[in-house]
Amino acid sequence: MGDAVVNVAVLGLGRMGYRHAEILASRVPGARLVGVMDALPARTAEVAVRFGVKSYADWRDAVSDPAVDAIVIVTPSTTHAEIAIAAAKAGKAIFCEKPLALTVAECEAIDATVNETGVLFQLGFMRRFDPGYAAAKRAIAEGAIGEVVAYSGISRDPQAPPREYVAQSGGIYLDALIHEFDIARYLMADEVSRIQATGRALVHKWFADFGDVDHAYVTLEFAKGGLGHIEGSRNALYGYDIRAEVMGTRGTIAIGYDRQTPIRIQTAAGIAHDFVPGFLERFEAAYFIEMVEFIKCVLEDRRPIVGAWDGRQALLMALAAKRSQELGRPVDVESVAREG
Ligand SMILES: NC(=O)c1ccc[n+]([C@@H]2O[C@H](COP(=O)([O-])OP(=O)(O)OC[C@H]3O[C@@H](n4cnc5c(N)ncnc54)[C@H](O)[C@@H]3O)[C@@H](O)[C@H]2O)c1
Repeated sequence: MGDAVVNVAVLGLGRMGYRHAEILASRVPGARLVGVMDALPARTAEVAVRFGVKSYADWRDAVSDPAVDAIVIVTPSTTHAEIAIAAAKAGKAIFCEKPLALTVAECEAIDATVNETGVLFQLGFMRRFDPGYAAAKRAIAEGAIGEVVAYSGISRDPQAPPREYVAQSGGIYLDALIHEFDIARYLMADEVSRIQATGRALVHKWFADFGDVDHAYVTLEFAKGGLGHIEGSRNALYGYDIRAEVMGTRGTIAIGYDRQTPIRIQTAAGIAHDFVPGFLERFEAAYFIEMVEFIKCVLEDRRPIVGAWDGRQALLMALAAKRSQELGRPVDVESVAREG
């Protein structure tokens, strides 16, 4: 690389891609945003002008640009595999948004290519970089709660996504609870061997048109014997409610918070405060820290704490949960990989 700068191109400039481009252009030490690309040419041009960087007509142009050291993939999940594999073959460092891909075969192909080419790969499971989850991980490693025995997580969205989004999201387990599956594995430092899931379209009956549910409960059985429980909902109304608790033999750690603004109004009518509105606010710090870490790993030639294999493991859990819901019985997680 020569100097201490990583030249980055961002592919996909929607909700999440714009946020990554803005963070990279403005405040990540050692990063230089050099180019952007979106399938919508007007969007590419608008963002390129805003940050004063190159605009690419096709993602392949960014991947083959010798001036680019790192590719940040924020395109729809169905496109991650093709782009990630091409970027790895071109020798670029890769940051890829979650889910890694929507099929086990694609996840395994990405992981194999990353291993063969030896490129650096970080997956966008940003909860691992959230100050709360990261502090919990450190406290567990330091033995603060003894041996971990159980995980419980709640992930509630304030509202249902639009119909078009639900139609192509892969469903609540792949789209939303994938973050829970990854963080449960990470905090418990273990793999999940069996999953049982129940879900229903409780409020938005139209979710059923897409084989999806707006409320789900998932039970996890970990390989070393631990247990886990996850609730997912699209119906919180009051805000974006993300909470977790890890139980150990000597105590528990509770993660999360609900109030966005540090003020509470107390009157005769009662107590009121606001609530975290959405994921961009709740994980604002995590989106920044994960990018700082990605650039640091490239500069220091270090392996990121979350890679392609983690994407495969989380996807297997999501697919197992989906299958369990359909079959009405527990599903062995690795059986999903064997059966495809
Ligand atoms: N980590 C998180 O918390 C988080 C949050 C939201 C989204 N995501 C992930 O980020 C990715 C993008 O999601 P989003 O919410 O920003 O979606 P979005 O629909 O807002 O944006 C996607 C963008 O990609 C563009 N695009 C489509 N096909 C393309 C292609 N072949 N090449 C280049 N651009 C293409 C679209 O025009 C659009 O602007 C998804 O994989 C999603 O799962 C992660």
